[in-house]
Amino acid sequence: MKYFIVTYGCQMNVHESEKIAGILEGLGYEEGKTREEADIIVFNTCAIREGAEDRVLGNVGNLKKLKKKNKNLIIAVCGCMTQKEQTAQKLMNTFPFIDIVIGTFNLPKLGYYIEAVKKGRQLELFSEGDIDEVLPYKRTSGDNAWVNIMQGCNNFCTYCIVPYVRGREKSRKEENILKEIKEIVAEGKYKKITLLGQNVNSYGQDLTPQISFAKLLKDICALDGDFTLSFMTSHPKDLTDEVIDVIASEDKIEKYIHLPAQSGNNRILKLMNRKYTREKYLEIIDKIRAKIPSCRITSDFIVGFPTESDEEFNDTYDLAERVRFDSIFAFMYSPREGTVASKMEGQIPDKIKHIRVNKLLALEKKIQKEDNKR
Ligand code: 5AD
Ligand code: SF4
Repeated sequence: MKYFIVTYGCQMNVHESEKIAGILEGLGYEEGKTREEADIIVFNTCAIREGAEDRVLGNVGNLKKLKKKNKNLIIAVCGCMTQKEQTAQKLMNTFPFIDIVIGTFNLPKLGYYIEAVKKGRQLELFSEGDIDEVLPYKRTSGDNAWVNIMQGCNNFCTYCIVPYVRGREKSRKEENILKEIKEIVAEGKYKKITLLGQNVNSYGQDLTPQISFAKLLKDICALDGDFTLSFMTSHPKDLTDEVIDVIASEDKIEKYIHLPAQSGNNRILKLMNRKYTREKYLEIIDKIRAKIPSCRITSDFIVGFPTESDEEFNDTYDLAERVRFDSIFAFMYSPREGTVASKMEGQIPDKIKHIRVNKLLALEKKIQKEDNKR
């Protein structure tokens, strides 16, 4: 029996697909090379922008043909799209050939669900689960091992769907993270360990006793073994001096920070609920560069947030020009149902979003060319 997993979205999803693979192999499935030869196909979905959802819908729709050919084919859809109850219902209604719709919190129960489907039931589930539940992984990212340190997000940036589909911040216990990393190191196959969380800088604030992200980093670096440590994603409002110092002083930590700015304009940052100003952001960048001169810094930007004027976009452009990021990800704002920004007046036409995104990408190209020359 063969499985085939299709993954959309961020590294968190890539890592969750490793859990899915682990579960399926535990049930006796082997990895298949194509959808056609699979007995079970799992779509691990992303909901961050409309484009991501559209791709999933199109590709799930195409599975109908396969299901016609092979009546025993099991189709499961999981990930961020399915954690939204409305979308999950819509998926089930539009594509009645889907067997399992399972939200992000319930992956550990996937095996149980597959067994139930084999007995002829269609299932859906969205309730919350336990983040420290131990799952078998099938690590698939070469010499990099992903380690999840926390789930969820408490920030409610007004454009973002993540807090709704991933719930509130829940940190894993430090002892469980250290145990997992010791096992990874003992396996001897991995050179790099990447810690994952939507907002790693607030790691441990929900634990009793509380523990800081800086302390976690130090404790991991103190483990024996030859490995490089990196992490994502950082939120500028929570990136402490202590964390910058640890990155500077620990040889094991990669000199790299992904620090999404989103905008360079204070009015828009406020509307986004980012809780820092342009000045504060630039100050953090200066601090990083002063303490870690070789540090690579990358960023995310959203253009065309509701009511963003040309001048306000120019502030974003100017910030990117000043910082000269090693690379940037620029996104056109995409309204997500249920978020505050999606209900704001002054939505920006796509044509303008395209112009702005292209300007930022052209700037990035120019900077990279200059840096390469240097
Ligand atoms: N529209 C466009 N981009 C978004 N991002 C998050 N939500 C949206 C949205 N609604 C971007 C942010 C974030 C990255 C992962 O995706 O820049 O940092
Ligand atoms: Fe979304 Fe903001 Fe949380 Fe990042 S910090 S996941 S952008 S709400």
